[in-house]
Amino acid sequence: MLRGMKRVLLCVGGGISAYKACEVARLLVKQGAQVRCALTAAAQRFVAPLTFQALSGRPVATDLWDTSQDLAAGHIALADWAELVVVAPATADLLARLRAGLADDVVTATLIAIEPSRWLLAPAMNEKMWASPAVAENVQVLRSRGARFLGPAVGEMAERSHAGPGRMVEAAEIAAAVATWPAPAVAETSPAAQFSTSPAAQPAPAPHDAAPGPRPRDLEDVLVLVTAGPTREALDPVRFLSNPSTGRMGFAVAAAARDRGARVTLIAGPTELAPPAGIQIVRIVSAEDLAQAVDAHVSAARVLVMTAAVADQRPKVRAAQKAKKQDGEETLTLVRTQDILASVSARAVRPLLVGFAAETENVEANAREKLMRKRLDFIVANDVSAAGAGFASETNRVLVLDPAGGRVELSGSKRTVADGLWDQIAPKLS
Ligand SMILES: Cc1cc2nc3c(=O)[nH]c(=O)nc-3n(C[C@H](O)[C@H](O)[C@H](O)COP(=O)(O)O)c2cc1C
Repeated sequence: MLRGMKRVLLCVGGGISAYKACEVARLLVKQGAQVRCALTAAAQRFVAPLTFQALSGRPVATDLWDTSQDLAAGHIALADWAELVVVAPATADLLARLRAGLADDVVTATLIAIEPSRWLLAPAMNEKMWASPAVAENVQVLRSRGARFLGPAVGEMAERSHAGPGRMVEAAEIAAAVATWPAPAVAETSPAAQFSTSPAAQPAPAPHDAAPGPRPRDLEDVLVLVTAGPTREALDPVRFLSNPSTGRMGFAVAAAARDRGARVTLIAGPTELAPPAGIQIVRIVSAEDLAQAVDAHVSAARVLVMTAAVADQRPKVRAAQKAKKQDGEETLTLVRTQDILASVSARAVRPLLVGFAAETENVEANAREKLMRKRLDFIVANDVSAAGAGFASETNRVLVLDPAGGRVELSGSKRTVADGLWDQIAPKLS
């Protein structure tokens, strides 16, 4: 939900992903924003203005010269009205026109009257267009003027044979960025119903979020997905199978990425920890919820770090009512949950994958086997039975392994370990 009502101008450029802008409009309205839309002429070849009118409940600006609309007061009135502007998709052409300060249609004439620090741009284009020096320079200049960029994401392009950075980030990502505008803050996705803990009710101190020393900004605008905490597998409405994970390691990994400039989504199982500021948090309960949440967010992510202690098995049957006490032995049948890392690893286009392996024996050998079998880019192994490491501990001692035989030991607070882990991952992203 938006903190206070927001007046959001959604400017749509002429690209294939203009269809996703419809969902952006819908989500913004749903989260309480007043939304007005402006479409370039090219955008109107992809999506009808009527769609945006229906979704926003307001007239749509399509023509600088059309004085018949509610826009009669002109594009300056629209600029005055908007608290912030989302440009989605921001085409290569729009980026160039905005950089040059053109004002030759209703979108650019409105935007030039709004300071760039209130622009949120979601670029979308073929990866070869995105790689062009002209586009790169336009992005750099607009950023230096204060414009904020969201994405692009890495993934398959509209031309299915192409993949790379250039996809527009998902609509939910854009809506979440608007919800936390202007200061970094927390956007919460509703938890699945059962067994959820309320971090608001029980805010715990957050060592994972402690102010670090200066960190390199080597993850600027990189979309990072982190999973954290335990899962709960219900036996009946009041009982579940779980593990002692507190989520501290994953929260530290998320906060460390944020401090290096990343845009972080944290999928968290039940935990007492207060969510780190400036991070979108998605609450889940079961392994199945987690699989669904990862599926929903992973295509936009450049890196997935799976620190969550996901249940490998769940009860085959979940009783609808609280099970009654019975005499004698009872048998519980368990079934395998989805192997989320293996599923993501099998995707044709996948993010850089970092797994965690909690082991109690043969730590290095078992972790290396998992690294190779699941085709991960890194595995972080820890001996959860060792003192000062593992689940409920404030500190950790881990071994970071990569497929090329790399081996780095990290120890200290979970935040220190998280910073050391990003020191390993970040160079692989450039
Ligand atoms: C089928 C098709 C798809 C296009 N997709 C994109 C795109 O994803 N990103 C982009 O920057 N331009 C794309 N273009 C080119 C733009 O539509 C073109 O540069 C146009 O002038 C953009 O106008 P606007 O920036 O005023 O919306 C596409 C063109 C066509 C014909």
